[in-house]
Amino acid sequence: MKKILVATEKPFAKAAVEGIKKIVEEAGFETALLENYATKDELIVAVADADAIIIRSDIVDADILDAAKKLKIVVRAGAGYDNIDLSAATAKGVVAMNTPGQNSNAVAELAIGMMVFAARNNFNGSSGTELKGKKLGLHAFGYVGKAVAAIAKGFGMEIFAFDPFVDRKTIEADGIHYLENVNELYSTCQYVSLHMPANAQTKKSVNYDLLSLMPKGATLVNTARKEVIDEEGLLKMFVERADFKYVSDVEPDCKGFIAEKYLGRFYFTPKKMGAQTSEANNNAGVAAARQIVAFFTKNDITFQVNK
Ligand code: 3PG
Repeated sequence: MKKILVATEKPFAKAAVEGIKKIVEEAGFETALLENYATKDELIVAVADADAIIIRSDIVDADILDAAKKLKIVVRAGAGYDNIDLSAATAKGVVAMNTPGQNSNAVAELAIGMMVFAARNNFNGSSGTELKGKKLGLHAFGYVGKAVAAIAKGFGMEIFAFDPFVDRKTIEADGIHYLENVNELYSTCQYVSLHMPANAQTKKSVNYDLLSLMPKGATLVNTARKEVIDEEGLLKMFVERADFKYVSDVEPDCKGFIAEKYLGRFYFTPKKMGAQTSEANNNAGVAAARQIVAFFTKNDITFQVNK
């Protein structure tokens, strides 16, 4: 019987785990659960007899893949798969997938919530500002960027998007201003929300040159990955621009260097929580389980990311 391991250092909501189990067991497979694990060794032991693994931001590197002797497929229940060593997976003949779009609403709601939080001075009781009428720049227009745009419209924001992989027609069809040049996004928008994946092209791409273009009252919102930020540039912005705010669902490595005196101009969630809702857990977890069943029963590789 095939064993599907759900390995989540940050567990899914209970209902999502039940949903996964139901799908796996109805297909005649068995589920194993490793939640809240503290060391890589625990994961190494757990993967030994797994035919498939469902993960979140859990690291699946060459050591894990080496230890997973029976593994055929790993599914990242979520969007970003920068936590999987894709070349090692390919070399081992392991299919890697994600579940695109399944948790995007949760992340989008958090991005908007963070904008409100920053606009209201981190809820410190002082007089803040409104989002209505402000210019919002979406740096990348995938599932999350699109969902942020849909909510931001309701707030009466004017929305701009830059995404080298999405054409003008698609962006304009959503009633959004299409920008061809990333510099223009940053120089136009008081709010910039990041929605690109972390990869070789995007790492450290949000740098001082871009950030310093932002108009007065600049707020950068990061529900993507810390790696896309050039942290030297970020620190320089804090020093030079008293109006600059940074709200993020991913703590920067330079957190310790952001001086006390900038308190109120930044906020970091204690643990990445963009996709941490029962709905998103359920959508992404259940989709992952379905994709695994479809892979084993119909050889369906629709969502494979290491082709
Ligand atoms: C994603 O890439 O889907 C999000 O960053 C969510 O990550 P998480 O599953 O670790 O919360």
